[in-house]
Amino acid sequence: MKVLLVASELFPLVKTGGLADVAGSLPVAMMQQGCDVRVLLPNYPGILDKVENLEQGPQLGDPYGHGEISLLSGQIAESGLELWLVDSPALFNRPGTPYLGLDGYDYQDNHKRFGALSWAGAVIAQHGRLLNWQPDLVHCNDWQTGLLPAYLKIWSQQRPAMVFTIHNLLFSGIFDYFQYRDLGLPDGEFRPDGMEFFGRLSMLKSGIQYSDAITTVSPNYAKEIQTPEFGCGLDGLLRHRSDHLSGILNGVDYHIWSPENDPYLAAPYFENHQEPKQLNKIDLQNRFGLDQDPNKPLFGVVSRMSEQKGLDLVLEVLPYFIHKGAQFVILGSGDRILEEGFQQIAVEYPKSVATTIGYDEQLSHRIQGGCDFFLVPSRFEPCGLTQMYALKYGTLPIVRHTGGLADTVWEGTYDDAMQTGFVFGKATGFELSAALDRAMQAFRNPGLMHKLRIQAMRQNFSWDRAAGNYLALYRSVLYGV
Ligand code: ADP
Ligand code: GLC
Repeated sequence: MKVLLVASELFPLVKTGGLADVAGSLPVAMMQQGCDVRVLLPNYPGILDKVENLEQGPQLGDPYGHGEISLLSGQIAESGLELWLVDSPALFNRPGTPYLGLDGYDYQDNHKRFGALSWAGAVIAQHGRLLNWQPDLVHCNDWQTGLLPAYLKIWSQQRPAMVFTIHNLLFSGIFDYFQYRDLGLPDGEFRPDGMEFFGRLSMLKSGIQYSDAITTVSPNYAKEIQTPEFGCGLDGLLRHRSDHLSGILNGVDYHIWSPENDPYLAAPYFENHQEPKQLNKIDLQNRFGLDQDPNKPLFGVVSRMSEQKGLDLVLEVLPYFIHKGAQFVILGSGDRILEEGFQQIAVEYPKSVATTIGYDEQLSHRIQGGCDFFLVPSRFEPCGLTQMYALKYGTLPIVRHTGGLADTVWEGTYDDAMQTGFVFGKATGFELSAALDRAMQAFRNPGLMHKLRIQAMRQNFSWDRAAGNYLALYRSVLYGV
């Protein structure tokens, strides 16, 4: 089976969040199960240095009058993953993140930038024979690829099968009608049962509307998004398409995320040899000038700082837990108010709180390895990867009961036989505090902590399982089996 996976970011080439981890690991796991997969993504600055066997591919055309769009082909060295890069200097050769300029605002022409990614994917899907590689199925991810199925629907009745994965329904790629008109799409599709969303274009809606199957990144989120509370205005359409909607839980790349062989940790440790985890804790306390005290529980955060992630709740309860002896190491960036809040509290309590604003891959591993607990108090969470990484590191996650967090972390009411973390219900400081209190209580019981860590570290969320589920879905879409 030949599968073209299309995404706007991919680890280790370019990453702003979990989508990159998924796009980097899922196709490798699918390859290992015999699938012939290639990934298509934009040629952003700096990524060619990390690509091997680079070759110039064909010119595809000039859909929006910004110059020829061509393909480059190459491979990721470690995994051998085959890539195609959409090369359009006018659209992609810019400083900033894949989505935002240096001023922190969305690029004005993101509709054309990701329209071009979708358009290029559609050209490959349509004319693959000319490239000697014709996909049987195209797997799109998030709004940046949402126009791909629309182009294919408009161009031809005969097209490869289409699967569309929603990683986050909140980001839906909304643009104005005058921007829609830039994209070479017919006016006839700009209607409520097409791509129109309250008078504007929704690229995410396009992906949902025109694909054969829709997935989300956890079974629980697949249910949640069919309700008005989590549906972001698309719950009606998702209920309408519910026969074609399913949830496949993301995986973890245990080559990258394992305390046994993590090159960034001060000391490796194992499920049955947890003692060196303390050295990683001391290392973190040292590095940030926190009190060097093994008896103080250390809580970690690695996250985008946004409303979604519920970090305002952490800010609310921090002073109370600092006074109870807890320490916090926080890494993230995003909303200015949250960044400033965490920076200020670190200035007030330098022995108890360390805040790093920015993006730091290495530090994210050290926080996973060195903390006792890991906080993910999200208001909603399609899957969430960091809590799964934390489980592997025996850093007990404290999560809200939502989306993929509810599918991956367990806390029983009466019994700790299955417990792997701490789970709270409502997104309030009160409920988060109660969960932190339970964690602090467990911390004072070393025997219980040891047992919970073992239970957490034994969880297996490998990509093999997820890849198997995707391949089964592809087969059912293609052959009805
Ligand atoms: P989301 O994609 O919603 O941000 P996920 O939990 O799915 O959340 O994935 C986040 C990914 O980004 C994880 O790999 C996490 O370690 C990483 N990450 C988030 N913020 C930072 C940061 N400031 N520095 C380094 N890595 C980060
Ligand atoms: C999104 C979601 C996150 C998920 C990630 C990868 O960024 O917010 O929950 O883990 O995509 O699927």
